Amino acid sequence: MKLGVNIDHIAVLREARKINDPDPADALGIIKRSGADQITIHLREDRRHIHDEDAEKIISSSALPINLECSIDEKIIDIVCSLKPMRATLVPEHREEVTTEGGLDIISYEDRTLAAIEKLHAHEIEVSLFVDPDLEMITLSDAMGAEWVELHTGSYANIHAMLYSNLSRTHHAIASLDLPRHTLQTKLEESLTTLLTAADHAKSLGLKVAAGHGLNYHNVERVVDIGAIEELNIGQSIIARSVFTGLKSAVKEMKTLISR
Ligand code: PXP
Repeated sequence: MKLGVNIDHIAVLREARKINDPDPADALGIIKRSGADQITIHLREDRRHIHDEDAEKIISSSALPINLECSIDEKIIDIVCSLKPMRATLVPEHREEVTTEGGLDIISYEDRTLAAIEKLHAHEIEVSLFVDPDLEMITLSDAMGAEWVELHTGSYANIHAMLYSNLSRTHHAIASLDLPRHTLQTKLEESLTTLLTAADHAKSLGLKVAAGHGLNYHNVERVVDIGAIEELNIGQSIIARSVFTGLKSAVKEMKTLISR
């Protein structure tokens, strides 16, 4: 299974102070040496975390391939074409959302999606469509000429969190499921079957299959079991964990510096 590490959250931390630290580009070497296969970034229309200069620096200096998430907005697609990442993943985008909510509705936005795909292909950028695990969406993704589909795992991740973690806040993008345990258990299995069926369908059409959103150290194993999925894109949980795995040395280093 290939791992794409989404480093947007490093830029989120930087933007909390509007300074230059931490620079997401500084993560590239560490992530490569740690065995990841790809870097994922999202150039949002509101530029709330990754900026154009970040994308430029990351694409030009990364030894790992870059998967650039973006909306189907024409201006953004033009910028992505000039940045030339290895892959563009087309995602839905709404200003008010905290993160990507649900897959891209390529049925409602068929013409605009197709125009984006054609432009990206003309610039030799492969295309992935971030869609819900829905057979019709996948069939259309293939018909539109995308190389990849990325299946939205947020629904599965949310049910898993309701069942197995004592988090009081689940994946914000999906309504909280206030249901009895056995019903949640059934829903969890159903969500996995939906992902499995969608992944198998995509693979049978010749699409490459990725998945992501809300995956973490507790819920990833069942998704890894889905053979047709060949890549996972994971951000929040990896960056969140790195705060704690790195905290000891960060505190020690400062303590050493100020100790006389
Ligand atoms: N894949 C896509 C298409 C996304 O939009 C995101 C979030 O930016 C991710 C994967 C990673 O999600 P998470 O941060 O929840 O791991």
